[in-house]
Amino acid sequence: MGCCNRRCGLIAGAVVGALVAILGGILFPVGDIIIQGTVETEAVIEPGTTAYENWVAAGAKVYRQFWLFDVMNPLEVLEYGATPAVVERGPYTYMTRYLARDNITFHLNHTVTFLLPNGAIFEPSMSVGTEDDKITSLNLAVAGAYSAIPTELHSIVETLIKTTNSSLFQRRTVKELLFGYTDPILRGDVGFFLDYNQTYDGPYDVFTGKDDIAKVGKIDMWKGSRSLGFWNDEYCDKLNGTDASSFPPFVNKKEPLFFFSSDICRSVSASYESTMNLKGIDVYRYSLHPSTLASPLDNPDNKCFCSNMKTTKNCTLAGVLDISTCQEGRPVYISLPHFLHGSPSLRTDVIGLNPHEEHHKTFLDVEPTTGFTLNFAKRIQVNMMYGPSKVITVLKKVKDYTIFPLVWLNETATLDDETAEMFKKELISRIQMLDIIQQNRFQRALQPRWRRGSKEPERRCRFQPG
Ligand SMILES: *[C@@H]1O[C@H](CO)[C@@H](O)[C@H](O)[C@H]1NC(C)=O
Ligand SMILES: *[C@@H]1O[C@H](CO)[C@@H](O)[C@H](O)[C@H]1NC(C)=O
Ligand SMILES: *[C@@H]1O[C@H](CO)[C@@H](O)[C@H](O)[C@H]1NC(C)=O
Ligand SMILES: *[C@@H]1O[C@H](CO)[C@@H](O)[C@H](O)[C@H]1NC(C)=O
Ligand SMILES: *[C@@H]1O[C@H](CO)[C@@H](O)[C@H](O)[C@H]1NC(C)=O
Ligand SMILES: *[C@@H]1O[C@H](CO)[C@@H](O)[C@H](O)[C@H]1NC(C)=O
Ligand SMILES: *[C@@H]1O[C@H](CO)[C@@H](O)[C@H](O)[C@H]1NC(C)=O
Repeated sequence: MGCCNRRCGLIAGAVVGALVAILGGILFPVGDIIIQGTVETEAVIEPGTTAYENWVAAGAKVYRQFWLFDVMNPLEVLEYGATPAVVERGPYTYMTRYLARDNITFHLNHTVTFLLPNGAIFEPSMSVGTEDDKITSLNLAVAGAYSAIPTELHSIVETLIKTTNSSLFQRRTVKELLFGYTDPILRGDVGFFLDYNQTYDGPYDVFTGKDDIAKVGKIDMWKGSRSLGFWNDEYCDKLNGTDASSFPPFVNKKEPLFFFSSDICRSVSASYESTMNLKGIDVYRYSLHPSTLASPLDNPDNKCFCSNMKTTKNCTLAGVLDISTCQEGRPVYISLPHFLHGSPSLRTDVIGLNPHEEHHKTFLDVEPTTGFTLNFAKRIQVNMMYGPSKVITVLKKVKDYTIFPLVWLNETATLDDETAEMFKKELISRIQMLDIIQQNRFQRALQPRWRRGSKEPERRCRFQPG
């Protein structure tokens, strides 16, 4: 591998690309087969291919931007049972996914095992303030204990809250809320993304595509298992598709793309929306279907994702995914930012949310020939649930189960200009050139004889000097 980094990988692809153009020029009839062959070879996940170099380390900078929800009326909620009102604060931006895939092991059966190390570095120039800015947020320990501890034992929770002088809400820094602090009730660490830096995602086992390119990048196992085991159902527990960083080449826009996202503990699909131009490269924009988090009433496939009748109003609540089974029982709910596509009640239980399709949807831009994702915005919101109690003082005024927004994030990456130029020049343009040559040939073949004759002088021009 020696010198090889992402660029070198693309250059290796370029050499093959040039070869394709030359061969294509000579051997018209086999042009398509060669394009296909080149892409199929270069898309395999194995040392030396274009795909591999981009796969090991993300080719572009990945940013995770957080907007935290600041509670405006904590005392009114406690004292009079007022509806909580929130204002989003952000972005607080971190660079992430800067660590290469780790512990990469290839197996004889054309699969590869690896770890995705987590890491986050604060990026002040893309943030509204510092990590020490203070936010009034939900007290994670109180909400967690409310769900995790049986109602009969809530008096213990009440005692702990009293002795630690805790409340339903707490004021903490952005850094504490995101990455962890020691909680007096739990006498342990909590946070939205606790100890993120010291953790990794996986191990993942994915197909390299060496034997069958249609399988490249597809996840075979996650954490050593072919079933997620969170949903108690074969369909919902399925690891379906890739990790979204790439898809098998020759993408067909009529078919949805399937991928697994460990953040939300499930597989999802995205549908073709439009063809866009990204820095001179034609890409297909795919977005999550609005029915992804719909209630089982509207999307029967979601039945197995709904288990808590109380908090989901008998599974009629749309737009939230209860992931407590993959959060060790913590009442965590995932939604789109500002409860986009969610039930209206979510936005009357907490005031201050304004969903906006353009700002809050998740999309990915995939280059169709290679199947590489060249641009994406993954947007999700993390919420936690609490509810009424006759025993816990800080919850006595609460009227109903409330799915409370903590933070939403926009994780994005776009290929940089330099890589875009290289990608365009060395891979795509040559493939397109071949396509055009092929098309011209095809059109000529279909033209009647006299028309074909009339083209003759034009073609002869090509041999004139100058
Ligand atoms: C990754 O590899 C290192 C050694 O290269 C090893 O110490 C570590 O335990 C491995 N991690 C996992 C999770 O297997
Ligand atoms: C491939 O081989 C690895 C290591 O022997 C094994 O764990 C895995 O289950 C195999 N995968 C398939 C799809 O056969
Ligand atoms: C994670 O580690 C990096 C470098 O090792 C450091 O710069 C960064 O501040 C750490 N992030 C957090 C959230 O602690
Ligand atoms: C408990 O909290 C209240 C308000 O949050 C504060 O005024 C009071 O001093 C605290 N008491 C102790 C013992 O920390
Ligand atoms: C899994 O993907 C296949 C297409 O590859 C699709 O037909 C099927 O519906 C998907 N299943 C789930 C559970 O998403
Ligand atoms: C849920 O269903 C149960 C039993 O069918 C019913 O008693 C209850 O009122 C329903 N709850 C809601 C919020 O619709
Ligand atoms: C992420 O999405 C938000 C909401 O649309 C937007 O304000 C922000 O600029 C996006 N981030 C990047 C890096 O594009």
